[in-house]
Amino acid sequence: MTLARLVAWMLYRLYRMSYKQICFAFVCVCGFAGIFYYIVIQSASFSVTGKPYVAVNGVVSLTGLLSSISQQQLKMSLDEQRAHTNLEESHHRKSFTHGLKISTNSTYNNAETDTIESLERFTLSRPAKDKLLKHAEHLDEKFLRNDEKSIQRIVDGLDGHQSTQVSEIFRKKGQLQKRFPTIIIVGVKKGGTRALLEMLKLHPQVCACGPEMHFFDRYYFKGLDWYRGKMPLCYENEASVEKTPSYFVTNGVAKDMFAYSKTLHHTLKLLVIVRDPTTRAISDYTQSQYKMLLNKKFPVNRSFEQSALRVAADGSKSVDSQWGAIKIGVYSKHLKRWFRYFTPEQIHVVSGEGLINKPYEEIKMVEKFLNLPSFIKREHFVYNDTKKFYCFDRSLSYKSEVVTPALPLRCLGTTKGRSHVKISEETRKLLRNYFRPFNEELYSMVGRNFGWQ
Ligand code: A3P
Repeated sequence: MTLARLVAWMLYRLYRMSYKQICFAFVCVCGFAGIFYYIVIQSASFSVTGKPYVAVNGVVSLTGLLSSISQQQLKMSLDEQRAHTNLEESHHRKSFTHGLKISTNSTYNNAETDTIESLERFTLSRPAKDKLLKHAEHLDEKFLRNDEKSIQRIVDGLDGHQSTQVSEIFRKKGQLQKRFPTIIIVGVKKGGTRALLEMLKLHPQVCACGPEMHFFDRYYFKGLDWYRGKMPLCYENEASVEKTPSYFVTNGVAKDMFAYSKTLHHTLKLLVIVRDPTTRAISDYTQSQYKMLLNKKFPVNRSFEQSALRVAADGSKSVDSQWGAIKIGVYSKHLKRWFRYFTPEQIHVVSGEGLINKPYEEIKMVEKFLNLPSFIKREHFVYNDTKKFYCFDRSLSYKSEVVTPALPLRCLGTTKGRSHVKISEETRKLLRNYFRPFNEELYSMVGRNFGWQ
């Protein structure tokens, strides 16, 4: 009531004031606001870069005052958030810094220059839930077919190694059950993820899910029971594996996977297969062209160059770092996010080129990393002159006493190893220059030079 009377009185005084008096009052108000701004707000407010907020051309207006207060509040809430995140991640920090020590010949030591925010710039976002629900039926059918196939293999004795002739260590033991994955191939798309999974399946103690699960990047809301339900039936002494290449680059997946491993008291082992990021981007683009044709849509009308490069007004070209196919290739930044949650003993980086040219050597490193008893042999890999890739001799893995139809050599399908779209030398050079510093960073982090130009 008193306030209303005060406002009424002020309005009355304003009404009675002359033009000069109004100007004088306005100057006084601005003056007081200015003093208040400089003494109270500016002395306390510093931006992240350490520079004080600057009032617009020295004119202190009421809006300036209000906005500086809200900036101060925003900064405080950001600080609070950071403090909270630091607290949450303090127990991951040890593994993160430790992660950088694994490099045997490493010169890498700028762990703290990348903030969470700067690393997340490279991630891809999760698809919206309503879009996913449309595909749910199709997804269920796919997993049902996979289940039927895996049960048939068990019934036919094709999962092998029940025989007493097989060395004790490789015999299947315990109950057949759907089990949560303990090994996950998290990426990268077009790096050779399918080949890696097929090679792992040559090992009798690996039980793998055929289709990509997309649990952590798409169907997390469906819950853990859904996740386990989609896995094949595995024996107790088998390691269950799933692969979803988009996990590596999708926002929030590393964090959720860490929570998953904690909930289940699992020590997860993660595999990432990387390939020259320029070749990977071209392979990715080639695949998208094929997919458009398959869906009877016209091939994407933007050429690779149009998608990958930005042309400035003066005609100069630079790489479009926001294009998904480019973002995926910035491996070091993605890996840093993963090292915030997992120790180096939990993540192994496989060379995509190594898997193509020397599959035996590459898979032996994986076998060792996974602590699997040594089983995979050089003879498992047979070079196919037509396909120009190695195929896998599964008969060496499934030698049970059950008479099985001769298992043919398993070569990957036509969607793997197809010829790529042609790109100009200029574009290739721009991409190589763009990726180079990130590649160097990756080599330092994992202590291995992948030899990309
Ligand atoms: P290209 O089709 O570009 O040659 P992903 O399974 O992650 O989609 O990766 C596909 C890539 O795996 C292929 O890319 C191919 O180069 C590579 N690859 C590795 N080993 C292979 C093999 N034995 N047979 C076929 N492709 C293989």
